[in-house]
Amino acid sequence: MAKEENKEEKIDTSTKKNKKNAHEGEDSEEEKEAIPLDQADIQLLMRYGKGPYADRIKAVEDELKNKTDDIIKLCGIKESDTGLALPAQWSLEQDKQLIKEKPLMVARCTKIINPGTEEAQYLIHIRQMAKYVVGLGEKVAPTDIEEGMRVGVENDKYRIQLPLPAKIDASVTMMQVEEKPDVTYNDVGGAKEQIEKIREVVEMPMLNPEKFINLGIDPPKGVLLYGPPGTGKTLVARAVANRTDACFIRVIGSELVQKYVGEGARMVRELFTMARSKKACIIFFDEVDAVGGARHDDGEGGDNEVQRTMLEIVNQLDGFDARGNVKVLMATNRPDTLDPALLRPGRLDRKIEFGLPDLEGRVHVFKIHARTMSMDKDIRFELLARLCPKTTGADIRSVCTEAGMFAIRARRKSISEKDLLDAIEKVIKGYQKFSATQKYMVYN
Ligand SMILES: Nc1ncnc2c1ncn2[C@@H]1O[C@H](COP(=O)(O)OP(=O)(O)OP(=O)(O)O)[C@@H](O)[C@H]1O
Ligand SMILES: [Mg+2]
Repeated sequence: MAKEENKEEKIDTSTKKNKKNAHEGEDSEEEKEAIPLDQADIQLLMRYGKGPYADRIKAVEDELKNKTDDIIKLCGIKESDTGLALPAQWSLEQDKQLIKEKPLMVARCTKIINPGTEEAQYLIHIRQMAKYVVGLGEKVAPTDIEEGMRVGVENDKYRIQLPLPAKIDASVTMMQVEEKPDVTYNDVGGAKEQIEKIREVVEMPMLNPEKFINLGIDPPKGVLLYGPPGTGKTLVARAVANRTDACFIRVIGSELVQKYVGEGARMVRELFTMARSKKACIIFFDEVDAVGGARHDDGEGGDNEVQRTMLEIVNQLDGFDARGNVKVLMATNRPDTLDPALLRPGRLDRKIEFGLPDLEGRVHVFKIHARTMSMDKDIRFELLARLCPKTTGADIRSVCTEAGMFAIRARRKSISEKDLLDAIEKVIKGYQKFSATQKYMVYN
């Protein structure tokens, strides 16, 4: 078809040419050059620039693609589609094991009948279901199970298969400090007396309990750290956490304030349950005035949830054995607002005041912060300390940081004494009206 059409076109054009020639004979040479392409030319043009085997290569590629498609179809679904591992990596044995294992139910072992004998039986209570008298599974020893324990029981015969630890809220478990903070007693400037006192309470009963037993006195149970903001109360507690091998639990007072009634008290209970399950434990309540405020009548006859949390703390402080190695540290900067019941001897025996550091203390704090900064060698820290009377450790730290900012601004690599003097001018004199120390002094 195409050829015929071409021919017709050729004829057409030739007739036109003739007509044109008849009209005007000048352009005849140009007309001759414009011979239309025939089929062979078009073929040639289509293959122009291609290698001699291009078509055959193309055909082989297509064939390959079809073959791989076929293979994928025969293999089934690809790994990336389903997230399954390759069959070579399957561990069928393990899967069979998993399928065989039955899920356990949580029950509470309320009573042991004939304890210590061969035919001991266990009374378990499955919540919202029933009570059963059951035996032990193969993997559990009679010594593992105690009365009042949570246990895992199997689904059909209700035999006890697993002793379970006490149920503790995840948010309470999270309070445990696992990574030791990088603060040591060396990083606390000045407060030597306070550190000495706190170590006496925290470390001595744990290291030499026989001293207390011989004398027949109870070691102090708790310590209250109080003083103006920024005097290093939290810092010392962190140093204690760093030094001790005991489990350290840090609670921020406001964490115990919960939405629902009774939640805060329950958290305190679980906290102490967890603490008592450890060999030795230190609980640190920071900013305890969030929950420990003095009780007052709010005039509506209702009692305050926060007060209930505080009473639970009081209760727990009384409840546990003092020589059971649970120590309680509390820190606050408003000791006057605390409830007297919390503070009475027997609950928090020691009260350690963190005052403003004296001249020597301030020099020490300056040196501690200068240790990590790059400062000029001949800085007179005594002079600097003398220039900032009535300042806290936090103020001095701020001075050092601010001096660093001055050095950065001047594009210097180390901090000079001039920077520090400027910073003292700025921080101590300039920010005086933000200083919390004066206000603190009013309260106490
Ligand atoms: N005695 C000190 N030695 C060295 N640095 C200190 C000292 N006191 C305070 N600082 C610095 O001040 C910062 C704040 O101190 P910290 O957090 O202990 O204050 P605080 O007493 O807990 O205050 P608040 O009552 O407001 O909680 C610390 O991170 C530390 O850098
Ligand atoms: Mg603090």
